[in-house]
Formats: sequence, structure tokens, C-alpha cells
Amino acid sequence: MKEIELKKIIENMTVEEKAFELLQLSPAFYGEDGSTETGPAMSLGIQPEDAYQSNSVLNYFGAERVLKLREDHYKNNKHKIPMMMMADIIHGYATIMPIPLAMGCSFDPELVKQCYHNTAVEASYGGVDLTFAPMVDLVRDARWGRVIESTGEDKFLNGEMAKAMVEGLQGDGVENEGTICACVKHFAAYGAVESGREYNYVDMSERFLREYYLPGYKAGLDAGAEMVMTSFNSIAGVPSTGNKWLLRDVLRGEWGFDGVTISDWGSAMSLCSHGVAEDRREAARLCMEAGLDIEMCTPGYIKWLKDLVESGDLDEKLIDEAVLRVLKLKNKLGLFENPMRFTNVEKEQKYFRCDEFLEDARRMVCASSVLLKNEDNILPLSEKSGKVALIGPYVDCERFVGTWAKVGMPCRNVTVREAFEGKGNYVFAKGSHRLGAENSLEAVMLKYEIDDSDREKLLKQAVKTAKKADTVVMFIGEHYDQSGEAHAHMEIKIPEVQAELLRRVYEVNQNVVVVLFNGRPLDLREISQKSKAILDVWMPGTSAANAIYDMLTGKEEPTGRLSMTFPYHVGQCPIYYNKIRTCHTYNPDPTSRFTSKYSDMPTMPLYSFGEGMGYTTFEYSDVTIEPTLKRGGKIKASVTIKNTGDRRGTEVIQMYIYDHFASVARPSRELKGFKKLTLDAGEERVVEFEIDEEMLKYWNIDMKFEADAGKFTVYIGHDSKTNNSAEFELV
Ligand code: GLC
Repeated sequence: MKEIELKKIIENMTVEEKAFELLQLSPAFYGEDGSTETGPAMSLGIQPEDAYQSNSVLNYFGAERVLKLREDHYKNNKHKIPMMMMADIIHGYATIMPIPLAMGCSFDPELVKQCYHNTAVEASYGGVDLTFAPMVDLVRDARWGRVIESTGEDKFLNGEMAKAMVEGLQGDGVENEGTICACVKHFAAYGAVESGREYNYVDMSERFLREYYLPGYKAGLDAGAEMVMTSFNSIAGVPSTGNKWLLRDVLRGEWGFDGVTISDWGSAMSLCSHGVAEDRREAARLCMEAGLDIEMCTPGYIKWLKDLVESGDLDEKLIDEAVLRVLKLKNKLGLFENPMRFTNVEKEQKYFRCDEFLEDARRMVCASSVLLKNEDNILPLSEKSGKVALIGPYVDCERFVGTWAKVGMPCRNVTVREAFEGKGNYVFAKGSHRLGAENSLEAVMLKYEIDDSDREKLLKQAVKTAKKADTVVMFIGEHYDQSGEAHAHMEIKIPEVQAELLRRVYEVNQNVVVVLFNGRPLDLREISQKSKAILDVWMPGTSAANAIYDMLTGKEEPTGRLSMTFPYHVGQCPIYYNKIRTCHTYNPDPTSRFTSKYSDMPTMPLYSFGEGMGYTTFEYSDVTIEPTLKRGGKIKASVTIKNTGDRRGTEVIQMYIYDHFASVARPSRELKGFKKLTLDAGEERVVEFEIDEEMLKYWNIDMKFEADAGKFTVYIGHDSKTNNSAEFELV
């Protein structure tokens, strides 16, 4: 449809109808059969038939149901505006991938792009037009439960991952079959909530916001994401959903974004709870003035826009602009020509967890799992491992799909036991439940029954099994419901009931491998003391068990590298590798006193950003580099890397740059490039990185994004701790 025709539709709409076109309804509004539910309608203060005038619904799944809903809506919509189907498809639709924090560890944008393409195919035939992904919040505090949805603590890695996810979802354009729209969220800086406490406020300088937190969102938008979701939090006291500077000056003015903005669930009316709007009428006015288009699941716009316009408190032009952006997005999706879009029952079934998607998911598990330690090369398992006991609550568990797995969650997943049974000298024991009495506060919130009645019995069985084995592999970790939204933690250890299991097993057998299931960095001190190897598989999704079998037996190598720092103790949070330089620079000498450190515990993290091992070893040559970079030019930095092990292996070569002097304090180093390479045993290769002036720019003392002439150091190595470096100068 031409834009002129879209504008014609708007001319024929009343203010109320425009307001409904800016309302997204929750799935509770529609019953299983798609009929509108009076309850939710009443709670919004509208009639059930009004639903047909609304913009969209979220998280309503299944091709057959969606077809019926779309037909009903289209038939009853006064202006024949088709509805949009949006959903939280954060890391897979039916085929659930590893959580995004794990996919960040893959350092493999191409594989990420493939996985999100697969997701778009499954979801689009299932009737979805747009997903609320990628979540690009930069995260530095493991106490915040939603780190699970992020790709980590580094703005460059997050930008590369956001670009890959958007390109995977949207392909060559959302008018094409097998694509869905991407929505960058949560704009902005939700990951910086104070103390890691959920829904808390955010306070930071504009410089840090622009330097560290905004670039990831912009990368997703530069890749073409069609929508932006505003965040719950305020920044320096201004809630993002009503933040005119953020939404109109930065997002639309500076970045030129002309797509649609949507609030988070209820975040529009939450301006009242932030205390910046006296009532919902004022909240509606502030949001529309700020540039919020679609209101998710609250009735501010439908209740107050008409009154605001009629009383002269709001310019109807702003509403028309918002509605036009929404209709243009629906038009881009082809919905005016085909209100059903690509919703298709047969194709949904054909692609639903199809073999090739399961295989890509399996590859992603291997690419995103991080081998944190491997003493005595206890892994991979082999003949020398003897009898192997597989122990832990994740041996028979199928729930390792994270918290945003709406369609994939109920599906049957292969368990660890099924992946191993009958393939070698394996014995099994559950050992414990995932949660115990110590988790009762969380259990109450989650409405879980904690059953400790068989705690000692399970422990005894596990100890007996471990005693008779030569090697023990523990499958332990967080309950999948311990990370994610509304799961901020003060403690970041595995549940005590499982730590107790590890202790009792370790007493009788010290040949312990830990396979860790987690949605956030954890305090792994005790696990590290009581194991020879730790393989972090995160919440690995549908293909977990087969991938874990392949990695533990050496058929596959775990090739992930940490996308987020693992603190030594939760007291270090927030903690991240690219620390800002300070006075009294940290001195590792334990007798040093007046240096930037903690005096009661080690100051360095347990595992750093970029860390991770494989099953072989690599050697790096010194860094060679052209010593002078002219403005507008490029120079090359290179290393020769050699696989010095006895098997084919993969390495993530990481390049960091350190700015010696600047007009404001800068980080000790920043990731500026990475390459993931697989080399045969003995093979060596020259790896080059291009460096240009753009990479050296920062938000300076005058709040200009520029690079200063002067000295820089480039580091190229295995992780963020590498000292393999060379200097160059920008002139
Ligand atoms: C939630 C989340 C957001 C999600 C939205 C819709 O509260 O904050 O990430 O997309 O609501 O479910």
C-alpha cells in the first residue's frame, strides 16, 4: 500500500480509533479459541469488541489459533487495519538455543545469525511478525537476573551480536517469507540498575551512557531493526519511556531512527510510580510527547489521548505521526495485502524443531560452552576415565531452556541420561533436587514446593555411586527459574543443596568434572576447589544433552570464551574487564596497601572476560604493527598463531586497544576485534587486524566523539588478560 493511502486511513480515524491503533493487548485478552475475554477487557475499562480496533497482541502462539484471531480482527476492524503478532522469542521459538549470554560466548556472529534465521522461519510460520529481541543491555552485575538475556559486558561484542541477530531475524527484508521484525531492547541502560536490583533506577553520566551503554542498541538499529522497546528504568531520574531527550533527540534526531517505539509491559503508566506523572492522563501526555508509539498492555492512550487533544494539552499531530509509523511497519510486513502474512499450519509443522535447526542448536551449544578449567586433562573422557558416574539433578532433567522459552519449554527434550545411556561405562544418580530448603524464599515467589524429605537418601545414593566410579561428572547449577526477569540475587552461588552434594561426592572421589547450568556468572570458588574441570554450558536449550555428550567425549570441542566476568565474590559486583583507570593503580603485591583493591579478599575476578579453554593449546607470536596511524588511514596489527597440541582445535583471537592518555579517564583496555579460527594440530596461521581512527574515538571532555593524537597499545591474545602487545601512534 502506498504511504498516501496509509495517510488516508488516518484521516478517516477518530482520535479514539488512533489511540486503539497504539494499544498492544496481552494474550490474556483472548481465550484459547481467540474469543475476547471480558475479564481483561473490564480491567482495561473497555468492551471486548474494542479489541478488534487494537494494534497487536503479544505472546499468542500457534498457526491455527493465530489464523483465526487475525481473521476475526480483520473482519471486525473498522478501517481494515490488520493486527500484528509480537512475541518474546529471545533465543529460539520451538528449537530453543542457548541463552543469549551463552551465545555471546560463542564469539561467532555467523553461527548466531544462522540460529536467528532458523528462529525467524519457525516463528513466522507460527504466525509471529515481530520478536522483542535482541536484548542489547550491557551488563556488568551478575546479581541482576536479566544478564541471562544479554550477550555480555562488552559494547563491541554486544554490537556484533546484535547485528548478527537482527540480520538473522530480518534477512533481506521483512517483506520476505521466513523473516520476522527485530526489536532492540531495553532502551536504555536497563542493565545498569543500581545494586543489580530488579526494576531499580539507573544513574550515570551522559558520557558513560554514550560510551558504554548506547553503542550496542545503535548497532542493532544500524543493522535495520524495525522497533525499539523502552526500558522500565529511569536514567538520572527520567524514566526511559517518557524520556524526550532519549527517544526524540538521540534515537530519532541523532540516530535517524524512523521505526516504531513500544513501551515495556506497563512502563508507560509506570511514570506514575516513578513519581514523574501525577496521574495516568499526565503519564499518557508525557509518553506521547516523548515519542512513545505503542503502549504495551495499559490503557493510558485509549483512556486519555482524546481528552488531552480536546483540552489542547496535546497536539494531535504527534498521534498521527505515531500511527503513521505503526501503519508503515504493518505495510512493510505486507499485512495490508495479506493480513495472515506467512502464518501457515503445514509449514509450522514442517519446520518445528526440524533436524537442521536442532543441529544448528547443537553446534551453538558447543560454540558457546566455556571450559573454565581442565586439570590433568581429565577431559575429554576416554578409556582412561574408567567407570564414569554421572551425578546431579540435571542428569534426568529436561528443563535447561532458560526462562524465555514459551513455545519450546513444554517440548520434550533429550536428557543427559538418554544421551549417555548404553554408550559406555556410565552409571547415574540424581544426588539432589535442584532447590532445597535454603531456597524457600524464592520457592514461595515461584510457587514451588521444596521437597527435602529425601535429601539424605539421594545424597547417600550419590556417594555410593561416586565411590564405585573412577571419574565423576556432576551436572549441577542454577534452577532455570533463578535467572531472568524478576530474579535479582544477593548471592550468586549454586543452590546449597547441590553444593552439599558436590562436597559429599568430592569426599569420596576427587576425580570430579562439573558441567554447570547457569543463567549468570556465579561465585565458583568452592566448585573450582572441588573439581578438576568445569564446563559451563549455561542454559543450553533443546539440543543440550547431545551437545554435552559430544563435548565430554571429545567428538566436539567446547569453543566458548566468557562474554561476562565471573567474580571471585559477589562483593566485587559490578565487575568487568575494561575497568576505568583510577589513582592508586591496583598493585597485585599483597603487601601493597594504598592501591585500588579490596583488603579482605582478592581483587581480581575468578575468571575473566574472554577466558575459556579447548582441548588443544595455541602459541602466539609477538605482535607486529605499523608504528604510525595517520588520521583517516588504516594500519595492520598481526600475530602468527600455532596449534601446538595434538588435535584440531579452535581459538578466539582477541584484539584490545589501550589509550595511553585522553582528556577523560579511559579503560585499561577495550575489545576492538576478534577472530575465531580452527587449526589442525601443528598448523600455524598469520592473523591480521585492521586498526583505523574510528576505533580510537571516545566521548571526550567536550562531549565530542573524537580520537586524540598520541600513543596506543594493541594487545592480541587469548583473553582480556593478555600482555602480548605492541605500541603505535595516531598522528
Ligand atoms: C517484560 C520484559 C520485556 C518483554 C515484555 C513483553 O516485562 O521486560 O523484555 O519483552 O515484558 O513480555
